[in-house]
Amino acid sequence: MKLTVDGKPHEVDVPQEMPLLWVLRDVLGITAVKYGCGVAQCGACTVHIDGVAVRSCQVAAADVDGPVTTIAGLGKTGAMHAVQAAWVTHQVAQCGYCQSGQIMQAAALLSETPDPTDADIAEAMRGNLCRCGTYPRIKAAIKTAARRLNAKPSPVPAPGTDR
Ligand code: FES
Ligand code: FES
Repeated sequence: MKLTVDGKPHEVDVPQEMPLLWVLRDVLGITAVKYGCGVAQCGACTVHIDGVAVRSCQVAAADVDGPVTTIAGLGKTGAMHAVQAAWVTHQVAQCGYCQSGQIMQAAALLSETPDPTDADIAEAMRGNLCRCGTYPRIKAAIKTAARRLNAKPSPVPAPGTDR
């Protein structure tokens, strides 16, 4: 079966019902996508299919109907995605295990809702668990990422002006 993952085409020989998470980790070696619960209860395995956040432990390989993006392919070549950069700014991670899923969920939220309210953040992120309790930093980082993404580029100073 054919899959596009992080912009690269792959042909994989796996059972149709194999969860996408297994394909990503065990077949393609993308171990940055994490296995937490396997039953849609933790969000650690979150990736995007066609830009939408999904639990990869719950999607059969044969049902993948669009390009897959993992945390490994979220940023552009050589640059972090704004959400990843905000995670660094706020030093969000503790043990880090849940964080690739948190970041993928947050990135999907901001692509749909560029200026989320506290309630939007709570609703979008409520299925992503963090046993280290980094929730306040996650919320702060999402707000920082939103602010940066929404900031208009500063005008280029006219030659001869000193700003
Ligand atoms: S591993 Fe998929 S939701 Fe927990
Ligand atoms: S940082 Fe440890 S589980 Fe979230």
